[in-house]
Amino acid sequence: MPRRLDGAIILVTGAAGTLGSAISAAIEADGGVVVRSDLAGRPGTDVALDVTREDDWTAAMTAVSSRHGRLDGLVNNAGVVSLGDVEQTTFAEWRRVMAVNADGVFLGCKYAMPLLALGTRPSIVNLSSVSGLVGGANLAAYNASKGAVRLLTKSVALAGARKTPQVRCNSVHPAFVESDMVEGIAGATRDPARSKERMAGDIPLGRMARPPEIAEAVVWLLSDASSFMTGSELVLDGGLVAR
Ligand SMILES: NC(=O)c1ccc[n+]([C@@H]2O[C@H](COP(=O)([O-])OP(=O)(O)OC[C@H]3O[C@@H](n4cnc5c(N)ncnc54)[C@H](O)[C@@H]3O)[C@@H](O)[C@H]2O)c1
Repeated sequence: MPRRLDGAIILVTGAAGTLGSAISAAIEADGGVVVRSDLAGRPGTDVALDVTREDDWTAAMTAVSSRHGRLDGLVNNAGVVSLGDVEQTTFAEWRRVMAVNADGVFLGCKYAMPLLALGTRPSIVNLSSVSGLVGGANLAAYNASKGAVRLLTKSVALAGARKTPQVRCNSVHPAFVESDMVEGIAGATRDPARSKERMAGDIPLGRMARPPEIAEAVVWLLSDASSFMTGSELVLDGGLVAR
């Protein structure tokens, strides 16, 4: 079977996390070459990149340029979750979440664009969430940050459509995934097992997503199979926002 990403150079942020590792593995399984970036000291990282730091982005792009000379794809996957309604969320926490989830994606699109412009059929995939589509009372900062990713994606897609070569950009919106992030959310409640049951029970398909199910969609968006798709939202939520 032909591999969809043969030889494509793709930078993944937050690559040491649950989805970052699954996405990186799926890209490699399809023939791509992954530059794994994450915070310094995280396992398996090729490039230390705190997505909130402009100077980390410029250094990472210099490293990718000297190693590979171009980028064919970027997956803005790094993200943090925070629980709290608008009154409970401190301004410092709001700023932290917005810095990683929104500033990080902005900086990624901005600083990767010159190397993507040297790539072959370049594509950006931004990890938003169902929480970027619908609100939750206790997700004030997370909702705002993932909503920002959704609309920034469309602006980047429109700018990318004017470039030569054209750079596509789409967002992915998973519901709960079996992951460290969900373990963290459930772990913060009085009854973690019950809390996970409730999360899965809210999803019409009756379970959380498995990381490879999200990774497969990201590979598809990076590949030429999705060549007419840009500025779009791929919702992977087991039917959660259908009702
Ligand atoms: N897990 C879910 O249920 C779920 C659902 C919808 C969307 N998402 C989104 O998917 C993405 C990945 O989530 P995950 O479940 O793999 O989370 P995770 O916590 O397992 O991994 C996140 C990774 O991001 C890295 N990271 C954190 N701050 C960073 C920074 N400033 N710079 C660079 N890297 C940083 C962490 O070190 C970690 O490796 C996130 O954007 C998240 O919001 C997750």
